[in-house]
Amino acid sequence: MTSEDLNDGFVVFDRVQKSYDGETLVVKDLNLSIGKGEFLTMLGPSGSGKTTCLMMLAGFETATHGEILLGGKPINDIPPHKRGIGMVFQNYALFPHMTVGENLSFPLEVRGLGKSEREAKIMRALEMVQMGAFVNRRPAQLSGGQQQRIALARALVFEPELVLMDEPLGALDKQLREHMQFEITRLAHDLGITTVYVTHDQTEALTMSDRVAVFDDGRIQQLDPPAVLYEEPKNSFVAQFIGENNTLVGEVVEMHADKCVVRLDDGEIFDAKPVNVTRVGDKTRVSIRPERVEYNPDRLPEGAHTLHAEVLEFIYMGDIFRTRLRVAGNDEFIVKTRNAPDQVRLEPGAQIEIGWLPQDCRALDA
Ligand SMILES: Nc1ncnc2c1ncn2[C@@H]1O[C@H](COP(=O)(O)OP(=O)(O)OP(=O)(O)O)[C@@H](O)[C@H]1O
Ligand SMILES: [Mg+2]
Repeated sequence: MTSEDLNDGFVVFDRVQKSYDGETLVVKDLNLSIGKGEFLTMLGPSGSGKTTCLMMLAGFETATHGEILLGGKPINDIPPHKRGIGMVFQNYALFPHMTVGENLSFPLEVRGLGKSEREAKIMRALEMVQMGAFVNRRPAQLSGGQQQRIALARALVFEPELVLMDEPLGALDKQLREHMQFEITRLAHDLGITTVYVTHDQTEALTMSDRVAVFDDGRIQQLDPPAVLYEEPKNSFVAQFIGENNTLVGEVVEMHADKCVVRLDDGEIFDAKPVNVTRVGDKTRVSIRPERVEYNPDRLPEGAHTLHAEVLEFIYMGDIFRTRLRVAGNDEFIVKTRNAPDQVRLEPGAQIEIGWLPQDCRALDA
């Protein structure tokens, strides 16, 4: 990232590091620039530093090194309540002794708004999350999903420019979670709010975000829009973490500008797209998405490389068929095919040929 890009961001992490114990860095040299109105998701495994980043932005933790800017200004010395940031955290509970209306009134009172102005804003925020009828209830009289909506309304009621959400839907069932994902992105876009959203659910990240920052071990491994992240993972970690992925282990035996030749440990040789291999002799994991593999002989695209495979399992999933194969010694090779009338249904034990295009096969780090 150039300094110009950095300055353009509404939220900027500039070489930010964080250590809690003075020894280990849980955030290592974070550079991240978030545009105004952008929906950015931090995605990563447990302990990768996502919440820590949000806490530093919110002002509940301080960076050990580097600087965080909001609207072009450093915020290191601004206390949390003066940063104008709305927050929804999984365990950031509503005040139990207050009604819904009082919960929403609180952030407005803190900001010194008068009664009639507060009431108008409260009702508008509740309408946004379709909870207008619940203004006099207490949190204990609401379902988990309703409480989550109120928490969202409370974060939005003072019309912040920036909202931070840390796993806000973790406690909800699948159906409600999907509904709320839609509601949150709709509200964020309609209101033009900049959102930093934390999750370890990759589907949630892919469906909600303008861009996703994939965290691992205190570093951003890749920062890209969802489709790029899924289609063009930059390394093995991202390929494995985002979506389902097939991996075959081998070695680079030829290197050209736009392709390389890989020899698998079992001797199989084929072309791949070199992503982060650089020279002959590099060990590599080649990565192929399950939906890019074809086993219908008459549908194999021209130029496809074919391999022998044994069917281990064939699962009917309604909209798709999910087939588990043994390919080049890998017993977990998955192929997904759309359920169509002419789609071949396979039997366990069948010996078949599978194929894929070289450009769908990415040679990544080992
Ligand atoms: N207050 C704290 N004091 C000391 N260490 C902490 C503190 N908070 C977090 N850590 C450590 O910092 C690292 C990053 O934690 P963080 O909470 O940022 O991870 P996370 O990505 O949010 O994980 P999760 O998905 O489990 O919520 C972890 O190793 C964690 O143990
Ligand atoms: Mg966390």
